[in-house]
Amino acid sequence: MFNLFKKKKEEVKKTSFLPLKVREVVRETPDTVSIYFEQPEPAMDYKPGQFLTLVMDFEGKEDRRSYSLCTSPFVDPFPGISVKRVTGGLFSNFLNEKVFPGKTINVLPPMGNFTVDFHSKNQRHYIMVAGGSGITPIMGILKSVLVNEPNSIVTLIYCSRNENQIIFKNQLEMLAKANPERLKVKHNLSQPSDSWKGFKGRLNKDSFRSLVSLAEYEQRYEEIYFLCGPDGIMNTAKEVLMEQGVDEARIHEESFYSAAAEQAKLEAKAGVTKGLLTRDVKIILEGEEHMITVDPSKTILEAGLEQGLNMPYSCQSGLCTACRGRVLQGQVKMDEDAGLSKNEIDEGFILCCSSRAASDDIQITIE
Ligand SMILES: Cc1cc2nc3c(=O)[nH]c(=O)nc-3n(C[C@H](O)[C@H](O)[C@H](O)COP(=O)(O)OP(=O)(O)OC[C@H]3O[C@@H](n4cnc5c(N)ncnc54)[C@H](O)[C@@H]3O)c2cc1C
Ligand code: FES
Repeated sequence: MFNLFKKKKEEVKKTSFLPLKVREVVRETPDTVSIYFEQPEPAMDYKPGQFLTLVMDFEGKEDRRSYSLCTSPFVDPFPGISVKRVTGGLFSNFLNEKVFPGKTINVLPPMGNFTVDFHSKNQRHYIMVAGGSGITPIMGILKSVLVNEPNSIVTLIYCSRNENQIIFKNQLEMLAKANPERLKVKHNLSQPSDSWKGFKGRLNKDSFRSLVSLAEYEQRYEEIYFLCGPDGIMNTAKEVLMEQGVDEARIHEESFYSAAAEQAKLEAKAGVTKGLLTRDVKIILEGEEHMITVDPSKTILEAGLEQGLNMPYSCQSGLCTACRGRVLQGQVKMDEDAGLSKNEIDEGFILCCSSRAASDDIQITIE
């Protein structure tokens, strides 16, 4: 049985990865690079704000990480990602140090819902809040708005540590100069140099309120919000917007990191299992039924992959929804459900990468 699964996994692996050849590597800041790829044949179809999943082998073990496309399919001839180093991080350090033009990197096709449809008739005010590397998907969306919606305007509030850490600083300056009536960029630096004249300090509710109040609200614009950055910035922004009565449906969010998922992984590794038991779980994958055994230290995705199932996944942190399944029977416990809407959760959808078996007779279907 195991070999059969393994064979199937390899077959899918061969066909579903897209090899992208690196065209150019641009150092944006001391700890961030942008990597642009040659267009594959046929050209890669993506929406601004979506992400690629990079699939790489480290010491013989395949691993994956998600990176948002910082480019716009309407503006940029070549798709690109920007990667900020994380201390001790496997992918982010490799991509910052060891990638060069000509290298081929396997990716999964673009995914993600942090995007929007554009129309030349739209009269929208896009209010975008980015922190650190959270600027990447926002950059692709911002460029797409400017080129596709002549009657829409954009206010970008971008939080960085200091002047040297501002990713796309020059590009943003040029875009703001070229679109003075339509794009306002407000940088907020938490640890600027003494000569910095702009907004400063760690973003809190008061500073966010004053930054947002500078946005030019006008009745004729339909407001739409995009938030991407560390939890602190996203939570602050969301709380203020909710207090101001902004309809949640107008707020689009993308997180790159889940502290809750990370904590749960650490606890599981340390044997803190919170009353969970080893259970058998039936997975219906593309119509085929498979039984797997899930012990309390494993998520359903980890157990399935280890037992040879070719289950879909990307971020492994409950954020991207690539591993989405639906519980038909039984109960799971989710460490992180940020990627799912309340409706999806009510309908029984789960994220296998952060779900643990919490009852007998669990059945999950993955389409
Ligand atoms: C949908 C999506 C889009 C993303 N887009 C981008 C992007 O455009 N640019 C980008 O640079 N990254 C992006 N990320 C984050 C990226 O996928 C990786 O998580 C990040 O590069 C760290 O991977 P790593 O292998 O270097 O670190 P790992 O080896 O996975 O982690 C090393 C250590 O750092 C901790 N850690 C990992 N990430 C963070 C973090 N953000 N903050 C604090 N601690 C952390 C881990 O818990 C671990 O202890 C995105 C993530 C998602 C889910
Ligand atoms: S793999 Fe991204 S949410 Fe599970």
